Amino acid sequence: MSEGILLPVVARGTLLPLAERLVRLDEALPQIRAVMRGETDAVAIESTLACLLWQTMVHVSWCGFYRRVDERTLAVGPYQGTMGCLRIDLARGVCGACARTAQIQLVPDVALFPGHIACDDATRSELVLPVVHQGRVEAVLDLDSMHHDAFTMDEAHRLEALLGEAFASARF
Ligand code: SME
Repeated sequence: MSEGILLPVVARGTLLPLAERLVRLDEALPQIRAVMRGETDAVAIESTLACLLWQTMVHVSWCGFYRRVDERTLAVGPYQGTMGCLRIDLARGVCGACARTAQIQLVPDVALFPGHIACDDATRSELVLPVVHQGRVEAVLDLDSMHHDAFTMDEAHRLEALLGEAFASARF
């Protein structure tokens, strides 16, 4: 599978209608699960998910992980897209809120999120999911889009299930 996953090519930045986004994600997920099966190295898992979710979710402008490196700091991990901030204080931003609360953060308009960190001024909406391992938030998956309101809980719940499986036996 050297070409990654098999999906129709759609231009980066396109916001497909939700139904089409879900069809695309549902086609990709079994392929992503097959690729990831048996992998236990957290960086290998994060890198591969960043690559394959980037390929699948063409409406994202940034797709990747921030890793919890101490009690109050996230450091950037494997990602695709424009350059991300290197470190994020847990007290700040959408990623910080996700890491602090272990709750999915769905932000349709980042301008309305207090303390949003603009690594890229063009970001309009975000979805951030926790990677919880043995009761601790080890990382977050951050997805950003240049479109307002680019994410839904339908997508979030599919990604949540994928993260749960992908990191179940991970070594951080
Ligand atoms: N916007 C995020 C920071 C991460 S970058 O956008 C890649 C936040 O507020 O957490």
